[in-house]
Amino acid sequence: MFKDPEARIVGKESWGDYFLLTFDSPAVSALARPGQFLMIKVSDEPYPLLRRPLGIHSRKDKTLGVFFKVAGIGTALLARKTPGETLDLLGPLGKGFNIDPCLAGKPVLAVGGGRGIAPLYFLAWELRALGASIKILYGGRTQADLPLADKLRAEGFDFACSTDDGTVGRRGLVTELMEDEIKAGGGSPPALVCACGPDPMLQAVALIARDKRLPAELSLESRMGCGFGACWGCVQRIRRDGKAEWIKICEDGPVFPAESVVWEKESP
Ligand SMILES: Cc1cc2nc3c(=O)[nH]c(=O)nc-3n(C[C@H](O)[C@H](O)[C@H](O)COP(=O)(O)OP(=O)(O)OC[C@H]3O[C@@H](n4cnc5c(N)ncnc54)[C@H](O)[C@@H]3O)c2cc1C
Ligand code: FES
Repeated sequence: MFKDPEARIVGKESWGDYFLLTFDSPAVSALARPGQFLMIKVSDEPYPLLRRPLGIHSRKDKTLGVFFKVAGIGTALLARKTPGETLDLLGPLGKGFNIDPCLAGKPVLAVGGGRGIAPLYFLAWELRALGASIKILYGGRTQADLPLADKLRAEGFDFACSTDDGTVGRRGLVTELMEDEIKAGGGSPPALVCACGPDPMLQAVALIARDKRLPAELSLESRMGCGFGACWGCVQRIRRDGKAEWIKICEDGPVFPAESVVWEKESP
């Protein structure tokens, strides 16, 4: 983990409440893996004090990108930053997706709900470079929640989307799209499913993966105080060796095997 107090912002794009900031941070960029995250200081004022966790969305040369939706004060402050300003960040943090070389030539599904697409974009680039056959499923409430759709299409990713209101793509949930996709794949099921999004979506992904006997990895979210294991602010119940334990998401995750996650309301 590095502390980069002066990561200079070199690019900014926005779509309504969604923002993409690109910044120079050679030391962090060199070590970044898909699924890892950064803890970003959002203000020089005493409030808000805590850094905010954001997944690593992209890496190019010595730059990194974060893609986020404004959720409250911290992300709103971050959204006001402009190119030329600097960010104070810690990273890369946590353990990311398991990019096994044996995935080369095999189908992989990346399922993103809303802002959950953020780390999957980086993952998709890495898997494509490895030679895996990656398909991205991108879901949101409405078309405005899929700001990266055009970019994914333009960059040649195999990609399908869904919206709850049917404004674009399949009408319904992205997990329904996932079920369609697995059915359409017939005899060649995905070798891995990777997902990031709200908890109910992740729980549904875990259930489908369990029913179809597919390996799946989920990137979880939690409120985080420190991001590196010091505060116990981010714990989640995870099953290990048949026993549920409280595990720190920031250190042991945020990516976990789907079958290990203990949900608040377990499915039958
Ligand atoms: C490992 C990790 C990676 C993340 N990556 C991304 C990303 O790539 N893009 C992105 O847009 N967001 C991401 N998030 C969520 C992001 O950290 C929160 O949206 C952000 O911290 C909210 O801060 P705020 O000050 O804007 O909101 P606050 O004012 O602190 O809170 C506003 C609202 O958001 C809720 N909230 C705050 N933090 C979280 C959280 N961690 N999970 C769920 N709800 C929360 C609060 O309960 C409240 O309702 C990630 C979270 C984690 C833990
Ligand atoms: S955020 Fe502090 S221990 Fe995980």
